[in-house]
Amino acid sequence: MPETSPTTASDSPITASDSVTLKADAAEARTPEADAPEADAAEKRATETAFWDALYNDSDRVWSGLPNHALVREAGGLTPGRALDLGCGEGADAIWLALEGWQVTGVDISRTALDRAERHAADKGVDGDRIDWQRHDLATSFPAGPFDLVSAHFLHSPGDLPREAVLRRAAATVAPGGVLLVVGHAGWPAWAVDPDHDVHFPTPQEVFAALELPEEEWELLVSETYERPAARPDGTMGTRRDNTLKVRRLRTGG
Ligand SMILES: C[S@@+](CC[C@H](N)C(=O)[O-])C[C@H]1O[C@@H](n2cnc3c(N)ncnc32)[C@H](O)[C@@H]1O
Repeated sequence: MPETSPTTASDSPITASDSVTLKADAAEARTPEADAPEADAAEKRATETAFWDALYNDSDRVWSGLPNHALVREAGGLTPGRALDLGCGEGADAIWLALEGWQVTGVDISRTALDRAERHAADKGVDGDRIDWQRHDLATSFPAGPFDLVSAHFLHSPGDLPREAVLRRAAATVAPGGVLLVVGHAGWPAWAVDPDHDVHFPTPQEVFAALELPEEEWELLVSETYERPAARPDGTMGTRRDNTLKVRRLRTGG
């Protein structure tokens, strides 16, 4: 499933067949008692956690270990402060931020991913108190802010992730003067096998609209779709289209 040599942190695709497996697993796990709404919701969240833990347990390394191109480009010029990395996976972005001088909170639904991220940080000589690794299912809980940078790179899931609500909550934790950076794929890679054409990849304009930011409190800095280098599964180089949205909070509402 993961590409053999991805060139950016999250080039490993979530395929249509993963999505089907996830739904089938959830259906199989359902019992009559679980039809109550709360049990159903809890089961959904457990399925989501199990999916991501299984992905990370299946391989010693899922992503490349390199920070995302867009993070380096967009956060490289910012003054370090408190950063939050949402869906931090194996920690490459959080580690890069810590090495740049940020005090980082790295959040993921998968305990396996977080344990691995913590080991990678230690291997890279990052002080233990520089990154606070927190397990949250962002559908149900969120780390306490405020933050000077909130970064969400490829916060996609083939299962059940209320992404727009999570991103609105993320915006609410940005301190005045701080930045929210949302980077996502703009479509399936050309080499995707049997891609699900019903999947909609939101444009940066759609992400911006969904954030519902009060105009007088926020400044739009970047809203773009672009191609970047990405490794194909056979290790040769291709490209992928991604989206970046970057907004700065000017002030909080009065
Ligand atoms: C496509 S990966 C991207 C990982 C990393 N940001 C990167 O760029 O390499 C999506 C990440 O989001 C995490 N994730 C998915 N759903 C989540 C949720 N509900 N709460 C917290 N993390 C979640 C997954 O475990 C996974 O590590």
